[in-house]
Amino acid sequence: MTGNTEWWRTAVIYQIYPRSFADANGDGMGDLAGITSRLPALEQLGIDAIWLSPFYTSPQRDAGYDVADYCDIDPLFGTLADFDVMLTQAHDLGIRVIVDLVPNHTSSEHPWFQAALAAGPGSEERGRYMFREGKGDNGELPPNNWESVFGGGAWTRVTEADGTPGQWYLHLFDTTQPDLDWDNPWVREQFRDILSFWLDRGVDGFRVDVAHGMIKAAGLPDYFPPVEGGSMGGGSATLEPAISTEPPAPAPYWAQDGVHDIYRDWRELLNTYPGDRILAAEAWVDPLSQVAKWVRPDEMHQAFNFAYLETPWNAAALHSVIDASLEAFGAVGAPSTWVLSNHDVVRHASRLALTAENLQGHGIGPKTPGLPDPVVGLRRARAATSLMLALPGSSYLYQGEELGLPEVIDLPDDARQDPTWFRTNHERYGRDGCRVPIPWEANSPSYGFGPSEQSWLPQPTEWADLARDVQIGDPNSTLELYTLALKLRREHNLALGAVEWLDGYGADVAAFRNGDVIVIANTGTEPVDLPGGDILLSSEPLDGRVLPGDTTVWLAA
Ligand code: BGC
Repeated sequence: MTGNTEWWRTAVIYQIYPRSFADANGDGMGDLAGITSRLPALEQLGIDAIWLSPFYTSPQRDAGYDVADYCDIDPLFGTLADFDVMLTQAHDLGIRVIVDLVPNHTSSEHPWFQAALAAGPGSEERGRYMFREGKGDNGELPPNNWESVFGGGAWTRVTEADGTPGQWYLHLFDTTQPDLDWDNPWVREQFRDILSFWLDRGVDGFRVDVAHGMIKAAGLPDYFPPVEGGSMGGGSATLEPAISTEPPAPAPYWAQDGVHDIYRDWRELLNTYPGDRILAAEAWVDPLSQVAKWVRPDEMHQAFNFAYLETPWNAAALHSVIDASLEAFGAVGAPSTWVLSNHDVVRHASRLALTAENLQGHGIGPKTPGLPDPVVGLRRARAATSLMLALPGSSYLYQGEELGLPEVIDLPDDARQDPTWFRTNHERYGRDGCRVPIPWEANSPSYGFGPSEQSWLPQPTEWADLARDVQIGDPNSTLELYTLALKLRREHNLALGAVEWLDGYGADVAAFRNGDVIVIANTGTEPVDLPGGDILLSSEPLDGRVLPGDTTVWLAA
């Protein structure tokens, strides 16, 4: 380590979901040229880096998390030349660029999988994936009882070249996303090349998809009790405190020790490149002390803090998850990360006001019980973000949260595209509601998402009022709240600070000092008297020195 000065220890990393960020060519799908055109807006917001969800060649069965060529751009999003322009311009603006790496599975249209299908049982090509014989007299039953995260079984049977029913292949996600066999050295070699391809192009790092799933337990044993299938290993998204202290029995396909060798290997590769290039783990494991294994000094640099994301808006729960995070990541010399929204979860401007349990990945729609009051949701979201951005470490933002966007609940059924929706026979709405193209200009077609009216998911008409150009310059807007928080975070060096808890405000209040800033978050409904000190930021307008419910302030200490 080179001390605690690397950029990623303190960075605010903004997630771009390329399909829904900005569309330059008007086909209704966001693209790389669109991203380039909007980089100045991100610089103005004050973020340090962007993470781009996949833009690789893909049949788009899981919105690009089904990759058919890891070293090219899907024509939907542009070309490698467009990528290079985007990267250069981001770097010129001082913004680092992290790309998404999807190593657990490929698309079923990837040439490796097509070759595996053609080559038949026992071939080297099949050995790159998880092909197995079925059970039952004629191999008609799947090799084990595993279930797909998106619902339904995790195995699909192929038809062999001679037309007979043949082997089964494993897919922890959609049928079109066959799992690679990471015990195969050939697979490891290919991914070293893929990492090098993007590192040579100048990317600052990788967000590693399903970083807890790549190695499966030897013998692929049945999993009891059978997996619910809807969660990536996380728990309730709303009501119960999310941290636990006991590791639950791991499923035979999550968090197997063998994954860590892969990341040690990749870390060595990254270390041969100049600059601080990073690996960030998407590892839905429990508890935080387990997550910290992914960021030991010779492995990855960051891991997403999903325990924080899953914590309800409750002072005691926040206090414990923050302590547990700082302790777990601190114990291995890694910064804690913080995150409230991403492309897989209900946006926090809605999630924090859900009144019934909602499992991660299930999503919400018109028939979901306990739908949120949007006013309460936005108010809590603004307070929750104001708390998060005062914490030491690195924070992730998801595009559109700086506009206060809620989850879109009433998408027409025929517009929904998430495989979860189809694989559960419409029982789970899935994740489309957090993926709707974002509004930039109130009075432009598709609210400035692109030059045409087209938008791959329909945008709610109310989003005109949330467009960036309406919010900019309005001191009470969510956009200005985020911009101010990011500015103060830098000026007060909060990301390198420490949390010192302050008592005396009551059970509904989480209060702490970080350096020369005092943060007070009222998660309850009763107003609380504020102490002295200049008010630096407030998530809602204040009436005197009283902190209303669902509000966070930063005071000069
Ligand atoms: C990504 C999801 C994706 C899944 C399969 C996840 O963790 O974030 O969007 O569907 O991996 O690649």
